[in-house]
Amino acid sequence: MARGCAFLGSETAILCGAMSWVSERNLVAAMSNAGGFGVIACGAMTPELLDAEIAGTKALTDKPFGVNLITMHPDLFDLIGICEKHGVSHVVLAGGIPPKGSIDAIKTFGAKVIVFAPTLALAKKQFRGGADALVIEGSEAGGHIGPISTSVLAQEFLPELAAEHVVFVAGGIGRGDMIAAYLEMGAAGVQMGTAFACATESIAHPDFKKAFFRAKARDAEASVQIDARLPVIPVRALKNKGTEEFAAKQREVALLLDQGSVDMGEAQLQIEHYWAGALRRAVIDGDVESGSLMAGQSVGMVTAEEPVADIIARLMRESEEALTRR
Ligand SMILES: Cc1cc2nc3c(=O)[nH]c(=O)nc-3n(C[C@H](O)[C@H](O)[C@H](O)COP(=O)(O)O)c2cc1C
Repeated sequence: MARGCAFLGSETAILCGAMSWVSERNLVAAMSNAGGFGVIACGAMTPELLDAEIAGTKALTDKPFGVNLITMHPDLFDLIGICEKHGVSHVVLAGGIPPKGSIDAIKTFGAKVIVFAPTLALAKKQFRGGADALVIEGSEAGGHIGPISTSVLAQEFLPELAAEHVVFVAGGIGRGDMIAAYLEMGAAGVQMGTAFACATESIAHPDFKKAFFRAKARDAEASVQIDARLPVIPVRALKNKGTEEFAAKQREVALLLDQGSVDMGEAQLQIEHYWAGALRRAVIDGDVESGSLMAGQSVGMVTAEEPVADIIARLMRESEEALTRR
């Protein structure tokens, strides 16, 4: 982990991946204070809100933490400006290929840029374009996902990139044994979300946490697109009434399209808007029926509320035991 720790400025190279509504000042500061690396999820926040969240996090920790910005945010460059104002050390660009000038804008004030890439070719292109580190995230992960499993991504990306570049592995990691395995393959560290979402310090609603503790791996399902004309960005979340009704909604809108009662733009918008505000409803309001309970397949290993420091200590112990056995 030494390379990952040096890059992050933390004691362990375990990042808590940004989770919208969950990764706010309390969880982020707890993560960094416990020797991991917390990342604020900016999500759809305005620059003013991000400003306050970074200030609030700095009041709770003097350890380094990151800020995750979504590349399609309309105010992306203003958000980068807020990170600059606070001297944020690490910016994660998520949700798509970083727009022109964004990596340079971050590097100008000395911060390190962490990116995602769905293919090896795009990963190499981003390193050429100035990215400092990469997260490869497999389809076992919670939240928005790609189609390839973590194990396959690790085998494709790590042998090609890990010697020269800092690469973190994410998706489906629940135990330290798995961390040890990816480190052996050359990863500089790991990123986890599901394992930390319901930590004691997480502000997620008690009912959101209960749903996690009850759930098994198979309950964390990827959303399915039902009609070729109506694109659905796959999201892994616990199945509930909302995910069931989403399938029905797609069938209903497809029928309206067949009948010619809506045009394509309106139909696609109806699908897109179905989940609007749903993660907030689940995390903050505790609406576990119709809210979006984003969770990865490792959710089955999350069975009780634990402080972040205990989770990190357990992961490190399991990782060391695995390496000692070898
Ligand atoms: C509730 C939840 C919300 C998430 N929101 C975001 C987000 O806003 N931005 C992002 O880049 N990733 C998001 N993710 C992905 C995490 O940052 C992380 O990469 C992922 O959880 C790692 O896989 P794991 O869940 O198997 O540990 C989210 C994940 C969860 C579980």
